[in-house]
Amino acid sequence: MIRLDNVSFYYEKQPVLNHVSLFVKKGQKLGVLGESGCGKSTLLKLMAGLCRPSSGTVTVDGESEPARICQKVSVVMQTPMLLPMTIRENITMGHEYTEEWIRHVCEEANLTKWIDTLPKGIDTYLGDRSDELSGGQAQRVAIARAMCKDAGILLLDEPTSALDPENAAAVLEALERYAKNRTLVHVTHRPEHLKAYDIVMNMDEL
Ligand SMILES: Nc1ncnc2c1ncn2[C@@H]1O[C@H](COP(=O)(O)OP(=O)(O)OP(=O)(O)O)[C@@H](O)[C@H]1O
Ligand SMILES: [Mg+2]
Repeated sequence: MIRLDNVSFYYEKQPVLNHVSLFVKKGQKLGVLGESGCGKSTLLKLMAGLCRPSSGTVTVDGESEPARICQKVSVVMQTPMLLPMTIRENITMGHEYTEEWIRHVCEEANLTKWIDTLPKGIDTYLGDRSDELSGGQAQRVAIARAMCKDAGILLLDEPTSALDPENAAAVLEALERYAKNRTLVHVTHRPEHLKAYDIVMNMDEL
């Protein structure tokens, strides 16, 4: 399902990943640990088709072209990227979903309570106010977006790091429920979050 063959990655001339090979089968859960700066987010970006390996191959669900890989995965990056659009559009990204599904993912991402306090609710425009969102609100919109896409592969980069402990626990539980019959890669600094995982990779040991 996800396969890295001898993958190296350089930013400019700085090597970040050196000859990494790994294989995650369909439905498996891979946890990724490692010190800050060791290349965890870079690894996830390669798996998400957000960058191209300097050498070697990344294959995700049979695709090796980054633009095609993007279509196969749902991703929550460490720093959520919101666009100057409404909350709804930030979640659906221009695709059609039923109102029921959108409401469900908002509920799962613990967004409903906040959205209900806004006069325009989910149709609130975020353009001029994206700086007014808390880091946690922005991250929960990014989580709802990933869930809404309903891809078979879920890639998470510290998805709850901006949330308070109560929200973090609830959202993590929802993400794990969502990932139950999907392939999951979860980057975290917290090994206790990876107890039931099939593979745990510590990038410091590569
Ligand atoms: N856009 C970029 N341009 C140049 N160097 C970069 C870029 N992004 C990351 N790096 C460098 O690549 C290395 C790996 O970064 P990466 O973000 O993958 O680390 P990380 O393991 O996710 O760290 P953290 O735990 O702090 O999130 C770091 O040394 C970082 O400075
Ligand atoms: Mg990172």
